[in-house]
Amino acid sequence: MKPIQVGLLGIGTVGSGVFNVLQRNQDEISRRAGRGIEITMVADLDVARAKAVVGDGIQVVNDARAIIANPDIDIVIELIGGYGIARALVLEAIAAGKHVVTANKALLAVHGTEIFAAASAKGVMVAFEAAVAGGIPIIKALREGLTANRIQWIAGIINGTTNFILSEMRDKGLDFDVVLKEAQRLGYAEADPTFDIEGVDAAHKVTLMSAIAFGIPVQFDKAYVEGITKLGAADIRYAEQLGYRIKLLGITKRAEKGVELRVHPSLVPTKRLIANVEGAMNAVVVQGDAVGTTLYYGKGAGSEPTASAVIADLVDIARLHTADPEHRVPHLAFQPQTLSDAMDALPVLPMSEVVTSYYLRLRVADQAGVLAKVTGLLAEAGVSIDAVLQREADEVGGEGSTQTDLIILTHDTREGTMDAVIAQMQALPTVLAPITRIRKEELN
Ligand code: HSE
Repeated sequence: MKPIQVGLLGIGTVGSGVFNVLQRNQDEISRRAGRGIEITMVADLDVARAKAVVGDGIQVVNDARAIIANPDIDIVIELIGGYGIARALVLEAIAAGKHVVTANKALLAVHGTEIFAAASAKGVMVAFEAAVAGGIPIIKALREGLTANRIQWIAGIINGTTNFILSEMRDKGLDFDVVLKEAQRLGYAEADPTFDIEGVDAAHKVTLMSAIAFGIPVQFDKAYVEGITKLGAADIRYAEQLGYRIKLLGITKRAEKGVELRVHPSLVPTKRLIANVEGAMNAVVVQGDAVGTTLYYGKGAGSEPTASAVIADLVDIARLHTADPEHRVPHLAFQPQTLSDAMDALPVLPMSEVVTSYYLRLRVADQAGVLAKVTGLLAEAGVSIDAVLQREADEVGGEGSTQTDLIILTHDTREGTMDAVIAQMQALPTVLAPITRIRKEELN
């Protein structure tokens, strides 16, 4: 059979990986796919760089629309990124009847509903394994491998940059700003690291996993997003003393009244496997009612790991593109006509309705009755305490006045309740600095 023809939009780090792996493993890949898969056209603004990667014999253009207009191209790979031109090109490729493979989590988390609807109407596939956790086949696992299950929750370390920073902070006892600079120097963090360190990249990814796990539309605008910029070395150290590591988790959970969708730093028991995922590695834990807990671990970024996911999508399309669209795996794993009803039954909950446990650190005056006042407020609000740690007092000020850190772990509480009680504690004159609150996930 004639090889399936692929056009590549953007040949940077990931695009080069796709080209190289396809070349290197072409025999095995075509034995799996049942036909060859050939990149026959590449578009990149830097034509010279693109030619240096692909050599002669492959058409290189600087206009992505020349690929979309080429009737011989069956699949367009979008590796441009962002919501701007990438959105226009993906929609144009779909309108031209091309299947699309993309690694663009931002585009799908924000514009997925529009893009998947356009693709369904046109009978083409939009595949996005590379958009979540790079080389880890988590989309395949959720859409297909776990299809028997009622998924209960997913928790993932799905941003390598922040995991690298947190690992370094813990290993070296350094604060966030110092480690970020080092990560930028070593190339682990971008010059503008905002999307990574503020949790936005992880929120894009968990939004996609949430949709596939629960059969709801992608709703990035409803995700709660908190990054790691306010974490200090002291909290990482205290967490360690209490038997926890701090990780930036993307969490989505089926709750009684809806779905939780959130990204924030979390204390995770050190004994959990995911707590021991260090450096730039990614890992995702999925809890299903039939299978129990499953864990997926691997490289979440990089040229060939991400290419591995892109090529898996190419193989899927090569196998399925002659099938009736109704007989393919739905984009979001559930039949599209069921999504909006599911959204009504399973709304994304506001953060105030999320139930979790907490780590609190209070800088307090070391005086009689301070602990009693703080715990009294928690008791009045019905918040149950799991553990308390008080450090030796530091002497500050001239008259021997002393301060200390009071660390409290709570049991499960509604976030709205915790907000109110933190405000009351903060108002006590003996609480001397803004209270640190980090959520805690037992993941059991
Ligand atoms: N910047 C991401 C990370 C990789 O640090 O994991 C691409 O999503």
